[in-house]
Amino acid sequence: SGYVTLDSGYKNTGATTSAITFLDGEEGILSYRGYPIEELAEKSSFIEVSYLLIYGALPTTEELAAFSNRIKRHTLVNEDMRKILDGFPSAAHPMGILSALVSSLTAFYPESLKSNQTKDEMDLSIIRLMAKLSTIAAWSYKNSVGHRVNYPKNSLDYCSNFLHMMFSYQTEDYEVNPVVVDALNKLLILHADHEQNCSTSTVRLVGSAHASLYSSVSAGISALWGPLHGGANQAVIEMLEQIKADGGDSQKFIAKAKDKNDPFRLMGFGHRVYKNFDPRAKIIKKTADDVLSALGIKDPILNIAKELEQAALTDSYFIERKLYPNVDFYSGIIYRALGIPTEMFTVMFALGRLPGWIAQWKEMREQKEPIGRPRQIYVGENTRTYVPIEER
Ligand code: CMC
Repeated sequence: SGYVTLDSGYKNTGATTSAITFLDGEEGILSYRGYPIEELAEKSSFIEVSYLLIYGALPTTEELAAFSNRIKRHTLVNEDMRKILDGFPSAAHPMGILSALVSSLTAFYPESLKSNQTKDEMDLSIIRLMAKLSTIAAWSYKNSVGHRVNYPKNSLDYCSNFLHMMFSYQTEDYEVNPVVVDALNKLLILHADHEQNCSTSTVRLVGSAHASLYSSVSAGISALWGPLHGGANQAVIEMLEQIKADGGDSQKFIAKAKDKNDPFRLMGFGHRVYKNFDPRAKIIKKTADDVLSALGIKDPILNIAKELEQAALTDSYFIERKLYPNVDFYSGIIYRALGIPTEMFTVMFALGRLPGWIAQWKEMREQKEPIGRPRQIYVGENTRTYVPIEER
């Protein structure tokens, strides 16, 4: 009842108060718990940033060690979950596996379903998810190539262990490369939270019905999969490959993106909130250059990406609409250089976004927010009389 305002896409509707992430789209500013993203990407580790997002403050040395050790203790995934994984065809998209296996955690940890979890119980659910998502993510990749899965190696740090689970083989152990570990840390930090985006709003909305953390995050993973959201990083590389195969004429694709009768969009460009450079894109572009040169990789699609960016930034269509490269424009090029296959890019985004989803879910529950329930403006038929089928 009462007056309903229509705001499709929630462009101007605040759904919550939040103390986690600050974002100024006009100025291109992003900070987590008050710390600028540039500084965190340069100085912190993904696990430290996760602690910061979830618990609200930077950890002391002891707190960080305790957090990291607790996560390590829970990296193993129940063997029965491996059987579920075995049931997936190798062609299954790893994002589908990820959301299914995260949802199935509710079956292995039914205590996570309690809507009145104590602080310690909630914390254990959080630690388990932080620990197991990287194992599940790496296993979803192993499934796609038809290889035996690798078990976590808890002597390694978070990023190195993930790379080991991805790239060790029965015949050969993955050799940890610090350039790769640093790049991965940076990418995960840059993706760790982004206030009320589509997947995070999904996590909060599902959680507002007091659904479990695992069900809420599984729903967030499904939202992230969409090509307008996290799926964009995969779509960018596919687009750049398409441009390369077509002869590398970026102007031709700029024209396609501007043509309103052509569904083609410049993937990795534009953002609901940023009407200026996405600060994450700036860092990622530089990281792409650094990582490729440190690894001695010359990827022709990096040049295509730069040409395309330049062409778009000087084109009135993109200037008028304030369309700039977003976080996903260059991230895929780095993932590729790290040896991560295209289908896994959105999984990498999910790994990075996990602490943000957790922090937002926890904040929503601690603030005792009411169930989320948007209204509508009905535009359907007035009352009609039912006509029996033989008379229609
Ligand atoms: N290529 C061509 N035109 C575009 C693009 C693009 N990438 N993005 C927006 N536009 C145009 C759009 O056609 C519209 O033009 P007009 O006013 O003439 O109708 C205008 O710019 C405003 O766009 P919108 O679709 O109303 O803006 P939105 O806020 O609803 O959408 C977006 C934001 C990110 C979904 C959109 O820019 C887009 O589809 N980008 C490509 C996909 C992408 O890179 N997504 C990743 C987002 S960042 C990572 C994440 O948070 O998930």
